[in-house]
Amino acid sequence: MTVRRFDLNTRAFHWANAVGFAVLAATGAIMFVPALSEAVGRRELVRVAHDTAGYSIVAWALLALAGSWGRGLRADLREIDLRDAADADWVHGGWRADLFARRGGVPPPPVGKFNPGQKLNAAFTAAAIAVLAGTGTIMFFHTHFPQWLKAGANLVHDLTAAALVLVVAGHVVLGLRDREALRGMATGHVDRAWAQRHHGGWANVRSPGSDPRRPSVDP
Ligand code: HEM
Repeated sequence: MTVRRFDLNTRAFHWANAVGFAVLAATGAIMFVPALSEAVGRRELVRVAHDTAGYSIVAWALLALAGSWGRGLRADLREIDLRDAADADWVHGGWRADLFARRGGVPPPPVGKFNPGQKLNAAFTAAAIAVLAGTGTIMFFHTHFPQWLKAGANLVHDLTAAALVLVVAGHVVLGLRDREALRGMATGHVDRAWAQRHHGGWANVRSPGSDPRRPSVDP
């Protein structure tokens, strides 16, 4: 039996972000590393691709969150803001059973739809994208700003981008190791036993569908 985890809008938003982020990281690296800039050349084209991907990510976020189609994504964001006792247990050691134990071992704490690591990842990613968009805008309109602000924006942009690359790399490794989570982000549906093991507070429902934050069981 499977349960619904992500709607189409949320999945499209996630994968559009993944493509946009790949373009940003590649073009950013080309502009940052002199040897790469020299090898690739076409600096203006690389810069335009970088700026376009950056503003596209912000535009997708606003579009994905707006309107009735954004209901699922907005509910996921509210979920990320919640904390409970299972989250505390997960932080204090429960993460080992969640990420490293085999099926049939000690069950991890019954966290909700997202564990605290995922909540931190989502919050950090959103904050980093906001910082990158803000500092990137100062760099884009650099002729309108004083030198000290331009230099500061440059430094913050580079440091934030480096941190985000590391966090996203960790996220991709964890995502690729969990085939069922990957299936959820690809198709929208996950195995119910997986959901009960890794997100017990979300999947163990008495009356599926009664709470919009809870999964509906597939027929
Ligand atoms: C090929 C690259 C990627 C893979 C394989 C991947 C995989 C996944 C998977 C499987 C989930 C669902 C987790 C679950 O259901 O419990 C997820 C969620 C998420 N992804 Fe990705 N992802 C990728 C790229 C990205 C990028 C580039 C970003 C942002 C810059 C991103 C941000 C997120 C966020 C914020 C969530 C929700 C919270 C979380 O699960 O950590 N992902 N991803």
